[in-house]
Amino acid sequence: MSLLLDHPEALHRLRKEIDTNVGYGRLLNDSDLAKLPFLRCVVNETLRLYPTVPLLLPHCSSEDCSVGGYKIPKDTILLVNAWAMHRDPKVWDEPERFKPERFEAIEVEREGFKFVPFGMGRRACPGASMGLRTVSLALGAFVQCFEWEKVVESNMDMNYNSKVIMQKATPLEAMCILRQHADRLLSQL
Ligand code: HEM
Repeated sequence: MSLLLDHPEALHRLRKEIDTNVGYGRLLNDSDLAKLPFLRCVVNETLRLYPTVPLLLPHCSSEDCSVGGYKIPKDTILLVNAWAMHRDPKVWDEPERFKPERFEAIEVEREGFKFVPFGMGRRACPGASMGLRTVSLALGAFVQCFEWEKVVESNMDMNYNSKVIMQKATPLEAMCILRQHADRLLSQL
């Protein structure tokens, strides 16, 4: 939401996508997600810039192996810096910018090695699909039901307390106004 408030053009595009594909008669649901590619782009781009678990979980090598040309002995604790990978200028064009549309040109399943918000391989997050769906449905419902406005003129404070899990340093404060048709939608909850 913070990134969308700083990028109203993305917020408008997302709202238009939801209005066009879901309409005003019902709240969006799980079966709509396939018709909302820009919503997925927004969620992906947010997870790229602010991966929830920036260093993933510590992994331990069960035998001698090699990673990126480095010899890793058995029983070494290995941390993967997803945050750095997601902002690597050798891999991403304008890595510091919020550009959800970049994911329109990326096949996450194929190029997943550069985008790892859920880790990768056998120890990757088993809840990835559920996590993506939950976040997409919550964000989609916020946008479908409310008009959003900033309460400050400056950019949103995107500082985070980055320890194990990334959390916003200051909670989001914004003005939300129920959209005309939305009382009907919310009464369906
Ligand atoms: C947006 C939501 C979520 C994010 C960003 C996320 C991210 C992650 C990450 C980065 C890891 C570590 C992967 C690695 O070290 O390679 C992980 C592991 C894990 N996640 Fe999630 N997760 C999410 C939602 C969920 C949900 C909904 C569940 C369960 C219902 C779940 C269950 C787990 C479990 C059990 C592991 C440990 C897997 C293992 O060590 O084998 N996660 N998650």
